[in-house]
Amino acid sequence: MLREAKPEELKTIQKMFKNGLFEHGLDSRVKLNEPKVFIAASQGNLVGFCKLGQKPRSNDGFILRIEVLNKFKKGGIGKKLIATAHNHFRGKNITLVNTVAVRNAIAFFSKSGYKAKRVYDAGRPKDAVAEMTKRIRQRRRPR
Ligand SMILES: CC(C)(COP(=O)(O)OP(=O)(O)OC[C@H]1O[C@@H](n2cnc3c(N)ncnc32)[C@H](O)[C@@H]1OP(=O)(O)O)[C@@H](O)C(=O)NCCC(=O)NCCS
Repeated sequence: MLREAKPEELKTIQKMFKNGLFEHGLDSRVKLNEPKVFIAASQGNLVGFCKLGQKPRSNDGFILRIEVLNKFKKGGIGKKLIATAHNHFRGKNITLVNTVAVRNAIAFFSKSGYKAKRVYDAGRPKDAVAEMTKRIRQRRRPR
């Protein structure tokens, strides 16, 4: 099940991150306008989340984090979370979505249609991050 996170679930995500269950937390240092967190739950347990919003002074959407628990990876949850993020942006008439993908997530974002604009590897390809972007289609208006 995917839905917007309740306030107490934001604390749960941070706790799970501190306990090493997620690789990244919600990172409140990154300023986003109208930040949203969507969660994926399985049998009442939080198993993934996606944090998104808009960078200040940008008209584009920005995906800050997308995380799925190890045990649930490669089961399609990441894909559903990203589709939820795209739907949210569509609702705001946003057509371009950006993200910064760590090396291990580049293939995942590529599968969802993101293109790498710039790759930084600071001399260590294993630590590379890529600025990625995707143009999302708007819903067709009924005639
Ligand atoms: C990246 C991440 C969110 C993907 O979630 P997921 O639930 O495993 O992804 P899905 O199962 O929905 O995969 C969607 C597609 O991407 C592919 N994919 C997912 N992870 C992949 C990987 N590491 N390498 C190659 N392909 C990958 C899947 O095979 C699938 O392909 P398909 O559409 O052809 O079947 C998850 O691996 C994760 O939490 N990673 C750690 C955190 C992270 O790095 N987040 C991104 C930056 S914040």
